[in-house]
Amino acid sequence: MSKLWGGRFTKETNTIVEQETASIGFDQQLANEDIRGSLAHAQMLGECGIITMEEAEQIQTGLKTIQDKIVQGQVEFSVEHEDIHMNVEKLLIEEIGAVGGKLHTGRSRNDQVATDMHLYLRDKIQAILALLTQVQEALYEQAQANVETILPGYTHLQRAQPVSFAHHLLAYFWMFQRDKERLKDSQKRVNGLPLGAGALAGTTFPINRERVAELLDFDFVYPNSMDAVSDRDFILEFLSDASILMTHISRLSEELIIWGSQEFQFIELDDSFSTGSSIMPQKKNPDVPELLRAKTGRVNGNLVGLLTVLKGLPLAYNKDMQEDKEGMFDTVRTLDASLSMLAPMIETMTVKTAHMRQAVTQDYSNATDIADYLATKGMPFREAHDIIGKIVIYAIEQGKYLLDLNMDEYTGFSALFEEDIYDILRPEHVVSARHSQGGTGFEQVEEQLQQAKAALQ
Ligand code: ARG
Repeated sequence: MSKLWGGRFTKETNTIVEQETASIGFDQQLANEDIRGSLAHAQMLGECGIITMEEAEQIQTGLKTIQDKIVQGQVEFSVEHEDIHMNVEKLLIEEIGAVGGKLHTGRSRNDQVATDMHLYLRDKIQAILALLTQVQEALYEQAQANVETILPGYTHLQRAQPVSFAHHLLAYFWMFQRDKERLKDSQKRVNGLPLGAGALAGTTFPINRERVAELLDFDFVYPNSMDAVSDRDFILEFLSDASILMTHISRLSEELIIWGSQEFQFIELDDSFSTGSSIMPQKKNPDVPELLRAKTGRVNGNLVGLLTVLKGLPLAYNKDMQEDKEGMFDTVRTLDASLSMLAPMIETMTVKTAHMRQAVTQDYSNATDIADYLATKGMPFREAHDIIGKIVIYAIEQGKYLLDLNMDEYTGFSALFEEDIYDILRPEHVVSARHSQGGTGFEQVEEQLQQAKAALQ
């Protein structure tokens, strides 16, 4: 027997056409999902009396044998049979004879492939959620150990106000929390069953879709057969969520790269997460965060690719849709590898608390606190802001920091200054004074750690 759809054809398929229209090269990754779907379909066909229960069992036994053979690497897929669906069906017929040909009763590859992808993404999203939790745990651990580690906080990459390092790390914890919430929400839509939609219009056989949904643990059955076979929103949604997630990873990576530079020296990545240079013996390069930063490009590309494939596509199934797979596989693989490296990289990095501390004593990031000081004493904030601006210019001219100015110098700018200004200006005070809800004050950060812990449970 040649092609499963060969009946209507009088000529062989052109060789390049056969090669290029086939998807088996990549959709063999769906073999397990394809067989799971078929096992449930056969069961339902038997229970509904569309085939005999004995035939259903024969088909199921055959499918399980094929599944085992695939796992053991004993199966060679062929381009002649185009995709995973027809390859498995062909193998089944070889395995159990003509009765294998009854499996495709009441279904089409169109509802079959959609079902495979729902099953596939459902599992992958679970796995990605677990990896995201590992990244959050790594951030949480480092945050817990660094509540009182102070470093400059930046806006415009200019030193702004000192913050607790834990506070900075927890900012990423919450980004990843939102990524998890988005993915969890998408599960509602991933977990629907297209099977039973047939090619596009349903089927003449008395099938039971609810039963298949039950067997495959789907929460709902697509209510419209045309939508069922042509919907790829669940993949688009996954790819969008992935792009937002990679954006977060790239931002964190960028900070790790900057922090690890000679100019900053706030952290050092572990040797096991760094690489060397073929020419410069002294180099220890942050290749891992650099690659993570760059991988955002391909993940965004996969999203734009599928959006473009689907744009303007008429109902119902079109071969264009076969192009939904490689980008999806690539994004899954990229997220898996990226998150798997990110968690241990954060866990093993060295936090150079002394360098961070030194940085906050050699800048003017406590200037806001002097303005707040005068404002607390009744001076309008705008006026205080102006005076402190002048103090900063004066200090820079003198080659001093704000803590180095003496009392005479301060009172020269305003009679409101008293000795307590020196306490106000200490980095610890500057940080702990920001005790508004969600601020970097140490007590607020402790509170935030509690919230993070609760989110992890
Ligand atoms: N390999 C196809 C795909 O990935 C399966 C569905 C093919 N259906 C069809 N009518 N050609 O989309």
